[in-house]
Amino acid sequence: MDVSTFLGQFPARRMRRLRQTPALRRLVAETGLQPWQLIWPLFVRPGRKERRPVSSMPGVYQLSVDEVVREVDQAVSAGVSAVLLFGIPDRKDEKASGAYAPKGVVQQAIRALKREFPDLIVITDVCLCEYMSHGHCGVVEQRRGRVRIANDPTLTLLARTAVSHAEAGADMVAPSDMMDGRVAAIRAALDREGFEEMPILSYAAKFASAFYGPFREAAESAPKFGDRRSYQMDPANAREALREVALDVAEGADLVMVKPALAYLDILHQVKTTFGLPTVAYAVSAEYSMIKAAAAQGWIDERAVTLETLLAIRRAGADLVITYAAPQVARWLREG
Ligand code: PBG
Repeated sequence: MDVSTFLGQFPARRMRRLRQTPALRRLVAETGLQPWQLIWPLFVRPGRKERRPVSSMPGVYQLSVDEVVREVDQAVSAGVSAVLLFGIPDRKDEKASGAYAPKGVVQQAIRALKREFPDLIVITDVCLCEYMSHGHCGVVEQRRGRVRIANDPTLTLLARTAVSHAEAGADMVAPSDMMDGRVAAIRAALDREGFEEMPILSYAAKFASAFYGPFREAAESAPKFGDRRSYQMDPANAREALREVALDVAEGADLVMVKPALAYLDILHQVKTTFGLPTVAYAVSAEYSMIKAAAAQGWIDERAVTLETLLAIRRAGADLVITYAAPQVARWLREG
């Protein structure tokens, strides 16, 4: 029955009866937000006792492994149960060696975190941009006088990266490069190396978005030339997003992601209703920074706006939300 037919049968229905008290409102709430539905991204850098603030993301730091362990300790106490790791390597090159180095920063962080917090879910971002001297997510090739990001040579490096994260003890890998066929390539490599149980969280519908600006400062991963529009999606396209997700599901993705979150709630909703898989939304760097900036001016209530946006993202269809505010949000939720 559609809404107008239904309303026709109950012309005098009162809507406010169930809004009278906090207890009643909670009783009929359709959507909730819980600390275990949050995933906290972290930027790991080499060294010891390093805490470098990211100026465009107040409260976010590039941390050395020892500091990551310290921060995660507090976050776990607040109720955070999953993290997403990004690495900033010592040196960058043309083959992203740091991404799959057995003693790379992310590999070290995985080992340290799993040793200290066996129950923590350690997810790793699988991408090459932070490790490439040119800052692109794939291998750069010259062909007929044109520079391009080569798809298939990139797959080999991504698969190696995913396997090295698995060997270090990661619980889940999350490819974010947007090359064609990377979920299949990673699945095959993981299976071949005996990691058949390792889930893949695919950045399935990842748009070429200006909302990634602050992240590129945090991860030191801005492309040195050109942009990412030859591999990330055009913000104009919703049907294409469903095809991207369908392909990743067919290739073996266990969870799928839509990114960014707030400006793409329609995509999120369609992905959840179409595929029904565990669906993840990435509330990206600028979504965080915009709230921080307006709150610092005293223009908005940081807590209320943050919680409302996360609830909206959940309502649209996200089971899980990746957010830089995860520890703070977990504390707010605990306070009630
Ligand atoms: C790497 C990657 C990016 C983000 C997550 N993984 C940057 C990009 O694609 O340029 C963005 C996350 C954020 O903005 O918070 N490919």
